[in-house]
Amino acid sequence: MTARLLLAKPVAEKIQAEVAEIARHLTEKGHKPGLAAVLVGNDPASHTYVGSKVKTCQNLGLHSEKIELPTETTTEPLLAVVEDLNRRSDIHGILVQMPLPSHIDSPAIIRAIHPDKDVDGFHPVSAGRLVLKQDGFVACTPAGIIEMLAFYDIPIRGTRAAILGRSTIVGLPMSLLLLHRDATVTICHSRTPDIARVAREADILVAAIGRTAFVTEDFIREGATVIDVGINRVSTPEDVAEYFGDDEKRRADVEKKGYSIIGDVHPRHAVERAANFTPVPGGVGPLTIAMLMKNTVRAAERSVR
Ligand code: GUN
Repeated sequence: MTARLLLAKPVAEKIQAEVAEIARHLTEKGHKPGLAAVLVGNDPASHTYVGSKVKTCQNLGLHSEKIELPTETTTEPLLAVVEDLNRRSDIHGILVQMPLPSHIDSPAIIRAIHPDKDVDGFHPVSAGRLVLKQDGFVACTPAGIIEMLAFYDIPIRGTRAAILGRSTIVGLPMSLLLLHRDATVTICHSRTPDIARVAREADILVAAIGRTAFVTEDFIREGATVIDVGINRVSTPEDVAEYFGDDEKRRADVEKKGYSIIGDVHPRHAVERAANFTPVPGGVGPLTIAMLMKNTVRAAERSVR
């Protein structure tokens, strides 16, 4: 079997077109949707992510603000920033980029975001609404994966799903979203005995553990849908050959940049065994920002109802 590659681009474009249309309507009525992104410190990856989020806002006609604070910022002043954003009527979504420096009380910062502006879906109220299957904001990556499965007509009801990883940002909300759509869900983690055996029972396998090519052929049921959420790096020609065969572009990546991006799934094995596979990069990644935009216009719509 050669897997169909599930690409995020057409899914993200569809979502973004819908977002731009809603943003246009709201702006005409004097309610331009606004997103505030708060960034503490100088982690390069966080700066890149926030930069993409702000740029996407601009492209889709949303107002955006980037609030950059120095690494030394402590919990109290950051709480004050969030509370100020909570009060502002031109800001509908608040995002505090994670991870925060370790001296900051991250749970307290997330709790301070008003649940109506919690477009990341990280607030305990949002998490509780998700558990109870009530309307609320859902973390963007798992919400995007659900959109992707719908876009590519991949059924969920009655399937067996295995989620590798139980993070509050991906694994846990992903398992609830699939459960609510009538999948039979198993969550695997570092203490799960024989993960491969559990994984290869699954019709839908979601890997979100942050370990390079952890999912190999023995994890993948023939004909499964494999969703790879990982973002890792390979940097040796030997690894590139193992994971990508004689892919010229990957070899060139390593020569030019010193690395190439790889997920939590062995790409050659997935392509050989799965029916559907999200490549890294280009599979899941771009959906996260699209869903953030969708959550932000939803927050703006609700605020004027
Ligand atoms: N860090 C990694 N992913 C995310 C995300 O989706 N939202 C925020 N706020 N921080 C992140």
